[in-house]
Amino acid sequence: MKKGVVIVGAGPAGLAIAACLNVLSIPNIHLEKEDCYAHLWKKKAYDRLSLHLAKEFCALPHMPHADSTPTYIPKNQFVEYLDEYVVRFNVNPIFNVSVECAMYDECSKSWSVKTRNLATGEENEYKAQFLVVATGENAQGIIPDIPGLKSFDGDVIHSSRYSNSGMEIAYDLTNFGAKTSISIRSPFHVMTKGFIRLGMTLVQYLPLKLVDKILIALNCIYYGNLSRYGILRPEIGPLALKALKGRSAVIDVGTVNKIKSGEIQVVKEPVMVNGNQVTFKDGETHHFDGIVFATGYRSTAKNWLKDDKGWLLNEDGLPREKFPNHWKGKNGLYCVGLSKRGLFGIAKDAEITAQDIAKTLSTERLNG
Ligand SMILES: Cc1cc2nc3c(=O)[nH]c(=O)nc-3n(C[C@H](O)[C@H](O)[C@H](O)COP(=O)(O)OP(=O)(O)OC[C@H]3O[C@@H](n4cnc5c(N)ncnc54)[C@H](O)[C@@H]3O)c2cc1C
Ligand SMILES: *[C@@H]1O[C@H](CO)[C@@H](O)[C@H](O)[C@H]1NC(C)=O
Ligand SMILES: *[C@@H]1O[C@H](CO)[C@@H](O)[C@H](O)[C@H]1NC(C)=O
Repeated sequence: MKKGVVIVGAGPAGLAIAACLNVLSIPNIHLEKEDCYAHLWKKKAYDRLSLHLAKEFCALPHMPHADSTPTYIPKNQFVEYLDEYVVRFNVNPIFNVSVECAMYDECSKSWSVKTRNLATGEENEYKAQFLVVATGENAQGIIPDIPGLKSFDGDVIHSSRYSNSGMEIAYDLTNFGAKTSISIRSPFHVMTKGFIRLGMTLVQYLPLKLVDKILIALNCIYYGNLSRYGILRPEIGPLALKALKGRSAVIDVGTVNKIKSGEIQVVKEPVMVNGNQVTFKDGETHHFDGIVFATGYRSTAKNWLKDDKGWLLNEDGLPREKFPNHWKGKNGLYCVGLSKRGLFGIAKDAEITAQDIAKTLSTERLNG
């Protein structure tokens, strides 16, 4: 199948590119290390979770959400949408298959993708003209290296196990009666879901700077001055920060009110752990029974993608080129869903990638 495409990963990004290729009748082999597609959504996300972005920003290519679908789609309904998507576009990933290495062969002008079946240990090799990286930005949780962390007596977990933001976890913990502190290291924007939707809509018609001003004004009116609670606002506006650094605003699900009422304490950055005692940057020390790290994720694509030479991805496994030039590398290599633009970005990446592959194939056909 040398003419075809190998897709690595069957999260929403992998499903989207597979569907786009199927619509264009371009053969593809789709590999997923877990035993189901959209593993993050099916097996790891909270039941209570609903999408953070409004539904018009959360559709995959060729299948808009129904009018009757709620604006903020509940997790289970999003999973049903994906189930329907997979059936409609005949997406068929091979499961339990982890990609261990992908190398480009100059002679045969094709990618050689080596895999291992995680259930049986069986090894395999696939060859294809095109390779699409769809392994996600959230492949692995990052836990910072705090001196003494190994000595901590309680539970240490990363938020990837809950697929949820730190603000949301803190909110849930207090609702279940836990005395919760939240450690804040650097400034960030807090927004309601409604503000974010408004911002994403307005920015299609107004300059980004103006929309940022509107969002900050709304934020001031709605929340007041939060600096006395330890929540500082970055100097750059929320949309500009997202565009420049890929850093999203934090979505408030009610946590800010709990911080204002004192139900949740804000503490500084932890600098040392000793048994159950955690010491913070301002010198304060408190006792804790558990630590949840909501400290972000990293892409793991660089672990297996060997012959990219930094053309597509940087050392962090994220696109080297800024949006909108992030999706295409050399030698038929592409990435879908690595530009920190959520499902909306995934859909756009998938469409443009499939079109580009189709164009390459038809040019080759014309040239014999
Ligand atoms: C809790 C949560 C809520 C979110 N809410 C929204 C939202 O409301 N709106 C929005 O637009 N975005 C949202 N996002 C962001 C983003 O849309 C999702 O993270 C989405 O799942 C990303 O899809 P993906 O396919 O790129 O990555 P993933 O869903 O992470 O899928 C990648 C797949 O690749 C597989 N894989 C990785 N490495 C290998 C390998 N070596 N070999 C084989 N397979 C491999 C993984 O097993 C995984 O199944 C949310 C994210 C989280 C965590
Ligand atoms: C994947 O592996 C699990 C066990 O790890 C097994 O139960 C399941 O049947 C496997 N699925 C496929 C499609 O091979
Ligand atoms: C917010 O309050 C702090 C003091 O807590 C003050 O220094 C700062 O100037 C205030 N910011 C605004 C915009 O009022």
